[in-house]
Amino acid sequence: MVEVRPSGAVLGADILGVDLSQPISAAAFGAIRGAWMQHLVLRFRDQRLNDDQLMAFSASFGALDRNPRHARGELRTVEDSSAYVNVISNVVENGKAIGGLGNYESLWHTDMSYNAIPPMASALYALEIPPSGGDTGFCNMYAALESLPPTLRQRIAGLSCVHDSSLNSVGQLRVGFEEVTDPRKTPGAVHPLVRTHPVTGRACLFLGRRRNAYIPGLELAESEALLDTLWAHAVKPEHCWAQQWQVGDLIMWDNRCAMHRRDEFDGNARRVMHRTQISGDRPF
Ligand code: OGA
Ligand code: MN
Repeated sequence: MVEVRPSGAVLGADILGVDLSQPISAAAFGAIRGAWMQHLVLRFRDQRLNDDQLMAFSASFGALDRNPRHARGELRTVEDSSAYVNVISNVVENGKAIGGLGNYESLWHTDMSYNAIPPMASALYALEIPPSGGDTGFCNMYAALESLPPTLRQRIAGLSCVHDSSLNSVGQLRVGFEEVTDPRKTPGAVHPLVRTHPVTGRACLFLGRRRNAYIPGLELAESEALLDTLWAHAVKPEHCWAQQWQVGDLIMWDNRCAMHRRDEFDGNARRVMHRTQISGDRPF
């Protein structure tokens, strides 16, 4: 039997009693899905998964996104699991990084919100973790919206925001982009500031990423001030919960209604995570 144990914070729950390396019954999957819609971030502890098993479980939620690192040039076959499994790691082998994001802090973000159709979810599975640091924080964007002062909520109704595509989540400039000096010219998708979750039907705040963000139609200074206010509110501790990793943890977050960030960690320690991403639909 699946047991759901809420974190006690405004999001996050442990799911107990499932072995994700095995096929899951429809009833158990229904319970997991329901808990996910309610708690936004699920944690499955003490799992032992190879990439095929990680992919199989992730794919029960929807079609997997192809690993962007293999999207061009070095295209792999569908049978090759690494086409869909992205390595997040600071480990360097033979002078080459085995994965992305290094050991840096990452600022609050929604994965790939700079795309017109951002992913629905990501699943991150811990193979090796540092003795300390590298915690991953999550923020409930339903709670962020619902606790906004009514005047502010009215003010943002109908407004949208540009989500910067030039920098990755640890602030590195992506290949092919120039540094943004004027947020009014930021490249990236434009999404509503308040979106409707396609499954729950609930409204939530949708900020994506702060750097170089811009609210079209506003003076730059006005946009900056409004975004600063919204961000300061959204990531208040009462809207957040942080994951302290153990080897064997699988965390799955709803990328439509939760943001995440990561603490930095000692570059001499090893952290190796395998990650899948599930396709989403256009925010509305
Ligand atoms: C990611 C990400 C956080 C972490 O994979 O999208 O932000 O804890 N990772 O590594
Ligand atoms: Mn991320």
